[in-house]
Amino acid sequence: MRLIATTQGPISIMTIRPSFLWGASTSAFQIEGAAHLDGRADSIWDVYLRAPGRVSHNDTAETACDHYHRYAEDVALMRDLGLNAYRFSIAWPRLLPQGRGAANEAGLAFYDRLIDALLAAEIEPWLCLYHWDLPQALEALGGWQNRDIVGWFADYAALVARRYGDRVKRFATFNEPCVFTLFGYGLGWHAPGIADGAALHKAIHHVNLSHGRAVDVLRRDVAGASIGAIHNRQPCYPASDSAEDAAAALRLAAYWNDAFPFPQAFACYPPELQDAVAPYIAPGDMAQIARPVDWFGLNHYSPHYIKAGSNLMGASFGAPPAAVPRSAIGWPVVPEAFRDTLLDIHSRFRLPIYVLENGTAANDTVDASGCIQDDGRIGYLKAYTTAMEQAIAAGADVRGYFVWSLLDNFEWGAGYSQRFGIVYVDRATQRRIPKASARWYSNMIAAHRVSDDPAGRHNRAEE
Ligand code: FCB
Repeated sequence: MRLIATTQGPISIMTIRPSFLWGASTSAFQIEGAAHLDGRADSIWDVYLRAPGRVSHNDTAETACDHYHRYAEDVALMRDLGLNAYRFSIAWPRLLPQGRGAANEAGLAFYDRLIDALLAAEIEPWLCLYHWDLPQALEALGGWQNRDIVGWFADYAALVARRYGDRVKRFATFNEPCVFTLFGYGLGWHAPGIADGAALHKAIHHVNLSHGRAVDVLRRDVAGASIGAIHNRQPCYPASDSAEDAAAALRLAAYWNDAFPFPQAFACYPPELQDAVAPYIAPGDMAQIARPVDWFGLNHYSPHYIKAGSNLMGASFGAPPAAVPRSAIGWPVVPEAFRDTLLDIHSRFRLPIYVLENGTAANDTVDASGCIQDDGRIGYLKAYTTAMEQAIAAGADVRGYFVWSLLDNFEWGAGYSQRFGIVYVDRATQRRIPKASARWYSNMIAAHRVSDDPAGRHNRAEE
């Protein structure tokens, strides 16, 4: 490890590939706003949030960060920070208000503008097809519980591929399928608010099938496509020494970590899920799911501490031991778990890894001089990027790191109460102010660019 001096103090220079990507991630529902403008129809989240008490302060994402109108400013911010890549998602109900059938040209045109602005700023677009905002019209037909959704999703993927595939090459099928199926259909904590075992297991299988079909569509319709899925993977530690908690941790890990990567990579469900999913598996399904992909997308924040519980998995989320440090919002800060997760993914899946979300929320405030001194976030990002460096040094093939998130945004059930951005968003005025962490991140990227590429060129081709 070399150290390089910057105005922000020493930064480690990692033993990483010259083409390593430093980016930021967002999602459509969390930042776009314009929820009912230019033909966009309700997603399941718009509907879910209308019931009082489901989200902190009854916040809505009607305006969110108004990125729909401010995308040019946001792209300029990313360019100024020196980001190489930007991961965003497409709002399915903006392109296909009924989820299928007639496409909405105004919605399609928005992503044309965004993609063109990114390319003009030399920022590589990473397009995610699904970040949780299912068209409500499809939920009314059963949503992910209805096997027909596999065809609806394939048609949506084809629309996206044909419209943007001339300019976008990086495609993710799904963001965190374990979270939206488990929370949305199994536990009722997220949209559409269903808590039912059969609903969960149907949704798991149909999402896996939709992933495989979308991979085929993207390969067919986009020359040179680079395709993956984005999985949330965290170690599940037992919350105590009891045998019950140890067994619960294994059950939860099967749902959280393996329910999607296993069938997608190995054409089989983890043994803990096999019997529950079996009634929904038709001949040929497993081969359709396990289509070859180009990379493994990882979202990682902190490990889970699991205790035995009475829900359908017999497992619930417990507290970490008192000695484990926590972030401002109480999430455990355990960078070693990130390092170990990267090494585990490397040894199991043998794919290039892109970290497509990592970051932390804090109670950021603007100080008297107009600055946001988010030292806690800088500490987290330093510790986690150092852990990533250790994983790379130990052999993990990590090719990119995207911070969550570019902007303070709508954090699902927590509404606007948790600020995850490296750029502060003033809720009243929508003014963007880069936090100290944005400057830290920008300096680190610049330091790598100097060290990797003495001529100062950007070098972002995949070798
Ligand atoms: C992930 C989600 C993302 C955001 C972060 C904090 O699980 O993919 O949308 O909510 O957590």
